Amino acid sequence: MSQVNRKIGITDTSLRDAHQSLLATRMRIDEMMPILEVMDQVGYHSLEVWGGATFDACMRFLDEDPWERLRKLRKKLKSTKLQMLLRGQNLVGYRHYPDDVLEEFIKKAVSNGIDIIRIFDALNDLRNMEKAISRTRAEGAHAQGTISYTISPFHSIDYFVKQGQDLRSLGADSICIKDMAGLISPFDAYELVGKLKKEVGLPVQLHCHYTSGMASMAYLKAAEAGVDVIDTANAALAMGASQPATDTMVAAFQGTEYDTGLDLELLVRVSNHFNEISCGYEIPREVMGVDTNVLSYQIPGGMISNLASQLAEQKATHLFKDVLAEVPRVREDLGYPPLVTPSSQIVGTQAVVNVLTGGRYKMVSTEIKNYLRGLYGRPPGEVNQDLLKKVLKNEQPISGRPADLLKPQLEEARAEISEYIEQDEDVLSYVIFPNVAIDFFKRRQGLLPPLELPSTCNTQKKAVHSSAQKAAQSSPKLELLHYIDETLLWGDEDNPVYPAG
Ligand code: CO
Repeated sequence: MSQVNRKIGITDTSLRDAHQSLLATRMRIDEMMPILEVMDQVGYHSLEVWGGATFDACMRFLDEDPWERLRKLRKKLKSTKLQMLLRGQNLVGYRHYPDDVLEEFIKKAVSNGIDIIRIFDALNDLRNMEKAISRTRAEGAHAQGTISYTISPFHSIDYFVKQGQDLRSLGADSICIKDMAGLISPFDAYELVGKLKKEVGLPVQLHCHYTSGMASMAYLKAAEAGVDVIDTANAALAMGASQPATDTMVAAFQGTEYDTGLDLELLVRVSNHFNEISCGYEIPREVMGVDTNVLSYQIPGGMISNLASQLAEQKATHLFKDVLAEVPRVREDLGYPPLVTPSSQIVGTQAVVNVLTGGRYKMVSTEIKNYLRGLYGRPPGEVNQDLLKKVLKNEQPISGRPADLLKPQLEEARAEISEYIEQDEDVLSYVIFPNVAIDFFKRRQGLLPPLELPSTCNTQKKAVHSSAQKAAQSSPKLELLHYIDETLLWGDEDNPVYPAG
């Protein structure tokens, strides 16, 4: 009558989501390198190390080639599976890319070292995930299909279970419940995981942010319901807008049928390392601790700080409450998209504009227009028909898969940047972030001065005599946690990817 030992796997997010959530994605490869060999001995199910905002941040802020970062990680992490986050047809950017770009991107991600690709779509539109799933499998990697979890009149446990079944028919190897805003309650986690296990039959992984304070309880209940893997971060970069702590969850399950089997001593060494490097950063108050705004407004923690900084730039901080209340209304008008990149930025920016201009939809961003045209995919619920008519006039939204409208882009792009190309992967960096990549290539060739990087902990320690104030000034500015590429949001007209009209 001995229980089957169903060890729970741990995906540690310290090298991707944790620092994206707390340190504005600013952790550098040289801050990771010293601890990688220890991490490789831990026996994690996987390490999430790439994708999401890291790709953009590497080139934009850190003067690092994201591909080179991946190769360095792969070289040190010899026995641990490496995982990345892919925004479906948006790859690691903010809009759809044509299939030739998607195929080449996945091929290069895998050949440079990725084993598991977590594939999501902000609208849970399967058509935006299907190519990525089939391509990932064709490259021999593990394709994890994702349910972007949210709460709305259109979303229910049954809706998500149906999505799990659909992801399985697309070929997904496992299912991730992605609770980016930390909204899932422990009892909903129990029910959803249990039903997915029973009715989909694939391994289930739960990814929660700690924002509302419920995540570690959700993990415990998910364990009882049979979850296979949970996502955590080392203790120094856990909680707040990040994941529950690896060390805590490992200790909590120790000696039970859910025992992770991981060595706490090694985990302490890992956490100590990140504790040391994180002293070089100023973690903003808004992403620490528990933020229950998320429960009233369904707004992820990172998005709240982004709204706050957009308002501060406009000297309109006093309108913060109005904007918070406007976000759910815009979300309703758009048919309740889950709030995750890029829908969180689209909804958030429009809410700010609606409040600042003193009239709803007096001005509408290009992105809202494209959303209403169906160019991001099919909204989960019904879109406000008055808004639709006002913005689209007589134009009909598309009904097909958005990427079917896009022409192949790779060959032309290769010709455009021939003078900068040092590796095949450069074309992908350029297609996804044209302006950011060109500047990065120029700095790489010495045509532009290198970026001034903030000093790290170690250099601050060496300069022990310099004043505390100076050290504070040299810390990176972390207000813009979920920055957006303004040129992509507002300058779409100059850089038409979608056919006009
Ligand atoms: Co996350």
